[in-house]
Amino acid sequence: MSKRPSTLPATSPFDQLTTDVLDGLHKSPKELSPVWFYDETGSSLFDSICDLPEYYLTRTEQGIMQKHAAEMAQHIGPGVALIEFGSGTSVKTRLLLDQLERPSAYIPVDISREPLLDAAGLLARDYPELHIIPVCADFTQPIDLPKRVAAAQRRVVYFPGSTLGNFMPDQARQLLTSMRRIVGRDGAVLIGIDLKKDPQVLQRAYDDQAGVTAQFNLNALRHINRELGANFDLGAFEHRAVWREDKSRIEMHLISTRDQVVDVGGEHIAIGRNEHLRTECCHKYTLEGFAQLAASAQLAVTHVWIDAEGKFSVQMLQPKSIQ
Ligand code: AVI
Repeated sequence: MSKRPSTLPATSPFDQLTTDVLDGLHKSPKELSPVWFYDETGSSLFDSICDLPEYYLTRTEQGIMQKHAAEMAQHIGPGVALIEFGSGTSVKTRLLLDQLERPSAYIPVDISREPLLDAAGLLARDYPELHIIPVCADFTQPIDLPKRVAAAQRRVVYFPGSTLGNFMPDQARQLLTSMRRIVGRDGAVLIGIDLKKDPQVLQRAYDDQAGVTAQFNLNALRHINRELGANFDLGAFEHRAVWREDKSRIEMHLISTRDQVVDVGGEHIAIGRNEHLRTECCHKYTLEGFAQLAASAQLAVTHVWIDAEGKFSVQMLQPKSIQ
């Protein structure tokens, strides 16, 4: 199984979720948050996406970890508290854990309690010596970390999977800033960043031939229908992946195939034929572009590992010394 990204905030009251959806539908162009992809069906569709021939990301990052985890572990050093954001099933983490020297603790942080605890249980079986302290939390908000983290020789935040790419540049900067605060002056961040490439390759990765990504995208509507009592007609929307050169990102859209009115939270939302609902942004970085983003969060890129075809990178960042 693959990494599972953020899901609906467990603590959000129904009204807040409805308000958020309505806010997005009142925007022009309309948008929905990608958190709606991930109910049980969506998580399993995402796992299938990760195995698709066109979706190079997971495979390529795993290959980089297989090849270079030992070197990464050397740079991390002994006695580390490894904090993973959005840990999900922690698959890539095992490749890193296998190489770490006497880690002080592994702290997977994820908003979905059950998968988090399941994954922690499986890891505990395979790494009996390791202190595993799962933290169920939304990593975009301030997190209370266990005392063992502060006491460790070094703190490293691990954020694989190119999930940072799903955040708008401002939010990405904030998230990197919060990682820098967590790791402190002597810590580091190890992060998976997908690289900018031929738009056709991206187009195929986000609009696969078997139509799994289309199902994944449409599942957001099914999830909203179930959770908020809305009545989106899934048959009246089509999936499209749209490359935006100006923003260096591929966007997931749902396009209405007819004029329609959808009931959400007691409101009637008119959606025109060919109107687009944007459901996700996946930013793709150049090495320079990502270094600039990191620098805006006072982090310096110290090491970069890339696959032979230059598709994906795993990068190590360290806090810049503040003059
Ligand atoms: C979770 N995230 C890194 C995926 C991505 O590639 O941006 C989500 C995804 N959307 C469509 N396919 C995969």
